Formats: sequence, structure tokens, C-alpha cells
Amino acid sequence: MSAGQELPAPPPALFPDRATRTRVEDALTRALMDAGERVAQGSVVPTLERAALRQELAQFDFVTPRALDELLTWTIARLEQGVVHMNHPRYFGLFNPAANFPSQCADRIAGSFNPQLASSGSSPAPVEIEAHVIRAIARRAGLPEDSGGHFTTSGSEANYTALVCALTRAEPRFETEGVRAFAGPVAMYTSRECQPAWFKIVHQAGVGRDALRLIGTDGQGRMDVSALERAITADRARGVVPVLISPTAGTTAAGMIDPLTACAQLARRHGLWNHVDAAWGGAALASERLRKLFTGIELADSITIDAHKWFATTMGCGMFITRHPQVLSAAFKVAAEFMPSSVTALDPYLNTVQWSRRFLGLRLFLSLAAAGWEGYGTHVERAAAVTAAVRERLVARGWQVVNDSQLAVLCVIPPPGFAPIRELVKRVLGSGRAWVAVAKTEGREVVRVCVTHGETALEDVEQLVAALEAKA
Ligand SMILES: Cc1ncc(COP(=O)(O)O)c(C=O)c1O
Repeated sequence: MSAGQELPAPPPALFPDRATRTRVEDALTRALMDAGERVAQGSVVPTLERAALRQELAQFDFVTPRALDELLTWTIARLEQGVVHMNHPRYFGLFNPAANFPSQCADRIAGSFNPQLASSGSSPAPVEIEAHVIRAIARRAGLPEDSGGHFTTSGSEANYTALVCALTRAEPRFETEGVRAFAGPVAMYTSRECQPAWFKIVHQAGVGRDALRLIGTDGQGRMDVSALERAITADRARGVVPVLISPTAGTTAAGMIDPLTACAQLARRHGLWNHVDAAWGGAALASERLRKLFTGIELADSITIDAHKWFATTMGCGMFITRHPQVLSAAFKVAAEFMPSSVTALDPYLNTVQWSRRFLGLRLFLSLAAAGWEGYGTHVERAAAVTAAVRERLVARGWQVVNDSQLAVLCVIPPPGFAPIRELVKRVLGSGRAWVAVAKTEGREVVRVCVTHGETALEDVEQLVAALEAKA
């Protein structure tokens, strides 16, 4: 562009003026609240025809611009009809919460400032805020004061980070030579009730899917620690190199807690990294009553806890917490002259899988600061109480509960005379009245009912029970 020539005006569709922004944002806030109220009264499951949506999408040729107000209205309507509603009080589903309000505010703020959390040089305040929250969670779990970690996009990323740390600590030459540095094939151990992302994790970490040992359970969905020790000893005898054990604290299907102290002691005896996967269950540390179930977590080398599960933040907010933050630096260090970094131990790009990072941790910071541990304690205990209410009603009607969990998940089998589990669940979903899942625990197919919505009421429990009991 030569001197004297004018720059084109920024496109107002992307960068509207203040008055337009204010008007659109106010309308958006109201539209979302109205939609939320309609969702709670309507079907939990999608009602939208995919073919019709595809036809509508075909009209978006991205040639003729459309008004943002209309686009927002269109999008809200399609989401209202086109998703399983985690924000419906009768979504008794997978560990996807109805997002709490402070975390939604956090997303708004993070989206507006859009800070880059790769480096503390660019984002000193966000990096400090995240580190503060991570230390608070570590303390709550009983880890030492100098523990560290970071926010991740998911529990899977946090579990992947654990495996990379275990490999890095077990063999310093892993950094340069990868798994070839080990004296034999590498193995990691978790139970057969583990979350299946572990299969992808061993694949992407380069140790291969054969490296995953699924240890048997005790008939109650908990890892059999004697079987674990036998597997480690047998592997060693065959020249395999064990690196990591991962007990689960709150299994995905049944909410069971593996014997955390015994696993930690065994890991110590065998010199293995002990990573507790508390992706969902970890939020129960907020409750004075329920946290006792997690005794032994304080001995972990590292822990996964997802804020986007039982802490009920918006999606994509996991945490990796470790008593060995220096191993993170060993695993993820890198030199990059262009980074506006103060190159402190805190710099996320030097300690995490990610590079560019969103300000994820603000979601839990605002939620925890607004509610306090006590508020979160009430939140998780309330979910456990709603679960107990479902249990009581189903047991009174002859249903069998197959998981002995005090957390907010129930695995049930109907009495004789009901449709097979898959058909029964399909019928419940088809009714639109509630969402429950089919799951497998201890080799049995069950109906899985999990309380993930912070405002589910007893009236919703009655409706769920009616939907489960409806025979046609
Ligand atoms: C115990 C456990 N670990 C890990 C994960 C994976 O977490 P994410 O979905 O955040 O990747 C889940 C997901 O449900 C889980 O239940």
C-alpha cells in the first residue's frame, strides 16, 4: 500500500460498533435465558431432522452476508432442537454437566480479552490465577505445598500427560530416543473398568496398545491389587518394563473407587508412577463427608480432575496435578526465541502438551471463589442425595442396584418382565422425558443413571422413575 492510500474500513460484521454490540449482547443474553427455560420444559433428546438441517446449511454459501442477530436466533433454535440437553434437569447422563453460571461468565471474559496463555510473559495475571487454583486443588487432595500442574482441555489430555511424565521419569533417554530407550517393551496398568481413552493414549504416546494392561476387578468394580502386583511381577520376569499404574477414583460406568492407598504402596514398592484418574469423582473432594472415600489420593504422583465434569464448569476444562512439577518441565521443555516469555517455571508452553492456550482455569477460579469449598460441597452432596432418592424408589419397585457407590451414579437392572436393557433405554430416550445410558460394569449390562445437573429436583426423579417403569 503506497503512502496516501487509505486503509479499508474494518468489516463491521466482524467488528461492530459499541451500540451494536450492546444491543446484540443484551438480546443474546435474554434469548439464551428464554431458551434455557424452554429446554427445561421440553424434550431432553434432539428433535431436529438432520436432513432438514443439511438443507438449511446448504443455503449458507458464505457469499451473501447475513445479519448477526438473525444468525444468533437461528443458531440458538438449532441447538435447542439439535443436542442432547445437558442443561435439562432430567439429563441423567454421562459426566457432562449443566454448566454453572460463573464458568459461563468466565468464558465471556476469556473470549473478550482472548489472552494467550502459552507464556506468563504475555499473560501474567491469567497464568498466576490458574497456578493458584491448581495449587488449591492439589492442597485439597492432600498433595505437598510445592505441587504443580496445569489446566488441560480434557481428562484424556491430563491422563496422556501422566503417561508422558511416567515415561520421562522412568528413563531420561526417552526424551531423545523414545520407547527405544527402554530395555524392553513398556507397560502401564489400570483396571478393566477404566475409561477407554487409555487405549488412544498408549497409542498416541508411542508405547502401543499392547502396552495397556487391564487388571481384573473384585466383583464390585474395584481394581484387584493382588492381580495388579502379579501382572507387574510376571511382566518384569518377561523383560517388560512397567512404568505407570492408574487407579480410578470414580469409575466411568459405576463410580467405584480403586484401593488408592494399596495402589500407592505398590507403586512405591515397584518404583512406578502412580496416577489417580479422578476425572469425574475428584470434585467430591469438596465435600467433607465424601472426601474421606478418597483416602490415599494424597499419595499419588499425579491426579486428573476435570472441572468440566462434577465441578460443572463449561466444557473443555481438565486438570493435571502433580507432586513432581519438575517432571513436566523435563517432558515439555523447548527453546523458542520468538516467545514473549519471562521463561519462568510457570510458563505453560514449557510445561504442557499445548502451545496456544485459552484461559481455561478462569472457569474454576470464578466458580470456586463464588461458591467456596462449602458451596461445592453442597453441590456434590446434593447430587449424591438425588441419586439416593432414585435408588430408593427403584429398589422399592424391585430394581436391582449393582454398584455399591456413594457417588452420584447408579447402575440398575430392572426386575423380570421388563424389556431388555438396550430396548428399555431406547424407549426412555424415545419418550424425551429423560436421558439415561446403557453401561457395562463387572461384565453386566446395566442402566446407568448419573446426576450431573445441579438443579435436578425430586419431581424430576419421579418423572425419571415413571419413564423407566413405562412398559410401552
Ligand atoms: C474416569 C474418567 N477418566 C477420563 C475421562 C476422559 O475425560 P475427558 O472426556 O475430559 O477427556 C473420563 C470421561 O468420562 C472419565 O470418566
